[in-house]
Amino acid sequence: MIGLALASTAQTRKLARVLAVRLRPPALVTVEGDLGTGKTTLVREILRARGVRGAITSPSFTLAQSYRGREGERLHHLDLYRLSRGVDAELFAWDDYLGEDAITFVEWPAAGSDALPPADVRVELEHHTPTSRLARLFGDERFEADVAAGAEEARLTVTRESRAPGGERP
Ligand SMILES: Nc1ncnc2c1ncn2[C@@H]1O[C@H](COP(=O)(O)OP(=O)(O)OP(=O)(O)O)[C@@H](O)[C@H]1O
Ligand SMILES: [Mg+2]
Repeated sequence: MIGLALASTAQTRKLARVLAVRLRPPALVTVEGDLGTGKTTLVREILRARGVRGAITSPSFTLAQSYRGREGERLHHLDLYRLSRGVDAELFAWDDYLGEDAITFVEWPAAGSDALPPADVRVELEHHTPTSRLARLFGDERFEADVAAGAEEARLTVTRESRAPGGERP
């Protein structure tokens, strides 16, 4: 796990650009956090950094929006806030949004947790002050190390925590 202090919206966007150049398809990235913690802000900037032009609207009503990145990759942005578990989630066309050439971002992933494969990268955002947020990122060891290095280079404050026994997350 790595922790990041995001002192402003600009820093959240900075983290997005650090992530954008380090993600490769196929990847499933979940973004969790309370309302207004910056999930859409983060994903939107990743999409921009990967070459998406034009409006990038929050998929809170449409559930999903799909784009193409500059390397031809598919980029899917899902917001499952309005999707309930059970039948709703069973009927959702998950396969349309996953694939070898896709990077899939999921806000509010809980409704899909029974149907979605395990995430490759998990980001958790938390309110800190009205304008700052705390982020926790979980990925494989190499990805975490690479993101931590990139974030430090971008002058973000990074804390690395080992997954100690009895720690707060598995
Ligand atoms: N450090 C910060 N990082 C990200 N957003 C911030 C920060 N400080 C303030 N904000 C503001 O918080 C809001 C975050 O909105 P955003 O839509 O990205 O959140 P969200 O987590 O996607 O919310 P929702 O759960 O409704 O989808 C924006 O208005 C943004 O400007
Ligand atoms: Mg959102």
